[in-house]
Amino acid sequence: MHDHDSNVVNKSGNRPFEDIFRASLSRRNVLKRSAVLSATGFLGAFVGESLLSKAATAMGHPPGTLVAQATGGGLMNFAPLSIAQATSRDGETKLAEPSISSDYQYDVLIPWGTSLQPGGAEYTGNPSYRPTAAQQANQVGIGHDGMWFFAKNEASSTEGMLCVNHEFGRTPHVTGKDAPESLEDVRLSQHAHGMSVVAIKKVGGKWERIASKHARRIHLNTPVDFSGPVASSGLLRNMANNPTQGTVNNCGSGYTPWGTYLTCEENFNGYFADSTYNPETQTGTWAATERQERYGFSATGFGYGWEKFDPRFDLSNASYANEQLRFGWIVEVDPMDGSKKAVKRTAMGRFKHEGCAIAVGKGGRAVAYMGDDQRFDYCYKFVSKASWRSLRARGLSPLDHGKLYVAKFNDNGTGEWLEITINNPMLATEFNSQAECLAYARVSADLLGATPMDRPEWTTIAPNGDVFWALTNNSRRTEVGPGSPQAPNPDGHILQMADAEKHTGTTFTWTIPFIASDSHGDGDETTFSDPDAIWSDPDGRLFIGTDGGQKKGLNNQLLVADPATGEIRRLFAGVASDEITGFAITPDRKTCFINTQHPGNGDPTRTNFPAATDGVTIPRDCTIVITRKDGGIIGS
Ligand code: FEO
Ligand code: CA
Ligand code: CA
Repeated sequence: MHDHDSNVVNKSGNRPFEDIFRASLSRRNVLKRSAVLSATGFLGAFVGESLLSKAATAMGHPPGTLVAQATGGGLMNFAPLSIAQATSRDGETKLAEPSISSDYQYDVLIPWGTSLQPGGAEYTGNPSYRPTAAQQANQVGIGHDGMWFFAKNEASSTEGMLCVNHEFGRTPHVTGKDAPESLEDVRLSQHAHGMSVVAIKKVGGKWERIASKHARRIHLNTPVDFSGPVASSGLLRNMANNPTQGTVNNCGSGYTPWGTYLTCEENFNGYFADSTYNPETQTGTWAATERQERYGFSATGFGYGWEKFDPRFDLSNASYANEQLRFGWIVEVDPMDGSKKAVKRTAMGRFKHEGCAIAVGKGGRAVAYMGDDQRFDYCYKFVSKASWRSLRARGLSPLDHGKLYVAKFNDNGTGEWLEITINNPMLATEFNSQAECLAYARVSADLLGATPMDRPEWTTIAPNGDVFWALTNNSRRTEVGPGSPQAPNPDGHILQMADAEKHTGTTFTWTIPFIASDSHGDGDETTFSDPDAIWSDPDGRLFIGTDGGQKKGLNNQLLVADPATGEIRRLFAGVASDEITGFAITPDRKTCFINTQHPGNGDPTRTNFPAATDGVTIPRDCTIVITRKDGGIIGS
């Protein structure tokens, strides 16, 4: 989602370091270096071998191998999709259908409106009507984003549960109306948001949705549980005493070593608004607190209009004053048991969560890396207090018991993790409890002096333990800073982090292997902008999905990159006005799943995908199934 996260709400003034060496680091220099140097050389060039070696030793790697990947290149052997192939079928205009490398093929799975179970009502894009709210509650939602495939059993790469986020769908796309006119319209919109758990199987060489009693929708009105420090704090209680329900703006995702899915609530603020607000007089009965402003709440929100018919989302309704604190969390879902409620894990902090990549750190601890996607917001990690196996053996969730940290990047390629704890006097002067520190994690991070970043989106863990962060862009950055190598930064970059003590320490080193740009040392063919989704495979290949205006007439794209060599190849390009979101892969890595989100922005004159081009059928978000024609490993 790139339209609603563009505001700057961080007024902390945190800017702890400026351009010590980066003042002289022009974008051109970075590109030249990143093209010719290995990631190790790149970091070494700026922070010096001694620091690199020290950090490498701390990580348990031999000196000099800290950020190097497993192989020296040759990870990708497929024919890249050229700009000409991806843009030429209808001349100058962007394509209405996807394009893919000649070594690959794609298929479409579970578009918006697909019934969760075979035989149910389906919506297929007929512009003359929309699903009812009740139908939508049993159909795949819209705004496909983060996802993961959970194989039926460990060995299966042909059957399992696909968890898919439904980040958002604009009211005209979902309801066919400019604004909701009834509670039924609001319910339809709410049921299109959230996430789906869908059973899928490869039948006769083609993946399809199959029946399962565990298939389910989790939307705005589905009962959910809370756990962790905020759950029992009273902060989530409303005078209306309404039950805890729903998840919203489910953007990136994650998966745990114990087999559950994590869905991440991002721009939740925009669904709340003041029902008393009069746009002509610009007045209403609600006024934002400083903390609400820090999370971007406003009288008009994003214009969904839910507040007019559903008091939960009305900021002026005192009976639901704490409803807003029930969103902005990491939500854990059991993909294999449809009877289990989703659980919001409050120990992981409340912010505009993007993705959540989990590493198994020293002593078997679960360590989650999480971005807060807003201009000048922060990078976080959560470290479980003991091994995930021992906690679970005691009936405890590893995501309920641990410490939350926020990142401070230093100008010399090092960094520190600052713990968000009420035991820190800096936070104790602002807050009364750990629950408050977590519920207002952004404010805590401001007070601790965290480093403002360029919109941290997904994270992923490389096979050597390095953590990659996608920083999608920040056109309002005026000065370079630690972790942010250019100002302004319209196209974004990828940051690589080596976290000390096998993910559990409080220091790290960092470097920048890729700056998104027109080219990466080979002419224009590897142009990309606005990296968003990112996933590392066990061989060190990075899969990068983009969200934003691509150059050279390209639609948004899926790229494969080798951070050790700087090589980038385009695998797939989407349809007009879409965003490439999500990434999931089967255990044998022979099928991967990505999404086209908001194809055509819902406008049937731009694309009718996945329907054939007819100019009228409403385009629908859907999952794209990608396989190699020769049956090989995806990305190879
Ligand atoms: Fe939903 Fe930050 O992308
Ligand atoms: Ca984005
Ligand atoms: Ca995203």
